[in-house]
Amino acid sequence: MNISIIGSGYVGLVTGVCLAELGNKVICADSDAKKIKGLKKNIVPIYEPGLEELIASNVKNKRLKFTSSIKEAVLKSEVIFIAVGTPSLENGEADLTGIENVAQNIAKYMDGYRLIVEKSTVPVETCFWIKKTIAANLKNKYKFDVVSNPEFLKEGSAINDFNYPDRIIVGLESIKAREMITSIYKPLNKPILITNIKSAELIKHASNAFLATKISFINAVSQLCDKVGADVTEVARGMGLDNRIGKYFLHAGLGYGGSCFPKDLDAFINIADKLGVDFKLLKAVRQTNIQQLEFFLKKVKNSLWMVKSKTIGVLGLSFKPNTDDLRNAPAIYLIRALEKEGAKIKAYDPKAMAKAKPLLKNVVFCKDAYSACRGVDCLIIATEWNEFKELDFVKVKKLLRRPLIIDGRNIYDPAALQALGFTYLGVGKNG
Ligand code: UDX
Repeated sequence: MNISIIGSGYVGLVTGVCLAELGNKVICADSDAKKIKGLKKNIVPIYEPGLEELIASNVKNKRLKFTSSIKEAVLKSEVIFIAVGTPSLENGEADLTGIENVAQNIAKYMDGYRLIVEKSTVPVETCFWIKKTIAANLKNKYKFDVVSNPEFLKEGSAINDFNYPDRIIVGLESIKAREMITSIYKPLNKPILITNIKSAELIKHASNAFLATKISFINAVSQLCDKVGADVTEVARGMGLDNRIGKYFLHAGLGYGGSCFPKDLDAFINIADKLGVDFKLLKAVRQTNIQQLEFFLKKVKNSLWMVKSKTIGVLGLSFKPNTDDLRNAPAIYLIRALEKEGAKIKAYDPKAMAKAKPLLKNVVFCKDAYSACRGVDCLIIATEWNEFKELDFVKVKKLLRRPLIIDGRNIYDPAALQALGFTYLGVGKNG
């Protein structure tokens, strides 16, 4: 099929290149001409494992191209995916001006039937408004369908998530739309759950909000573990063995960050409020996430006594491993808070340093993890990159000024590090 993706961010690029890999002819469009110029030269604006290679091979096979012309994208495709950003407004509401703009442009340029697939994370009822906007702006009475097809890609494993999804959700209301969308996803050979449009829209927000709830729940338990001397990893393992609970998303740490959970939770709470539903549970989830960082910060302060003039090494800056994404990254919050208290920071991240430099002007960025350990009073693990799990701790101990490790992601075995002479503090273990 001829498919266009409007919006070439994480979701748009990954979806576009994966659909091209499935054999479709795909045009990825974006209004950011500089980004498109770069993509044409295979300069990929984000780090996502495997993405650059896949883009290069699909461009070479002529299945993928880029344009900054929405007109070209609309004219040359029968299926149009909307994958533009929906950032948070100050009140937490999702900003849908990008979506409205795309809908107006689709109406302006379409010259026959189009299937419009809404993939951006949006509040319930957005597809209804897309439909209304297109209908109101259409010059000729061309037919079209709008379907809701929420994405569940995780940064760092997005290509794999596209190819091996747990489920594909499509909200639709016509047989033609059903036939077209199922034929697009058929090669993946995965269950497609067809629902009505509003249910599909709600599934996305409800899923992310539920996952965030799991994380805040275990983080609150981790604070309790610290008080009584229990180990949150053991508690989570014990809970997770109950199939009704499940073992995933029960890793205590620095709280959730990234571009999705904080924004989606705000938007979900906001739309619920607007519809007259006071979703108190989610407000508490959000509050717990903020508290978890404060709780960790207190742990750092308690173990250093005075933060002023101390040098602190921070390993990991991105909000999670295998990405260079710093949006709502706990490490950035921690570093800023510690700098405010007068600490000097040395930091290292395998992929996110280029993006971090403009945000953290006073931080000394190091060439590797060991350099970030040299001469510091305390080493903080802020992101669980695999390479941090395999450090040579005999070497690390020689480099640190004081053998204190505060592990915000619980990646180390406390006993092993204590045996080497470290003071080790995790989250929800060892007080
Ligand atoms: C998330 C959803 O998982 C995905 O389905 C959706 O499409 C977009 O939002 P993403 O933000 O890429 O994906 O990352 P994810 O792996 O879900 O992690 C989100 C945050 O939760 C990270 O900050 C991570 O560190 C944190 N997290 C995750 C925990 O603190 N504990 C856990 O057990 C799991």
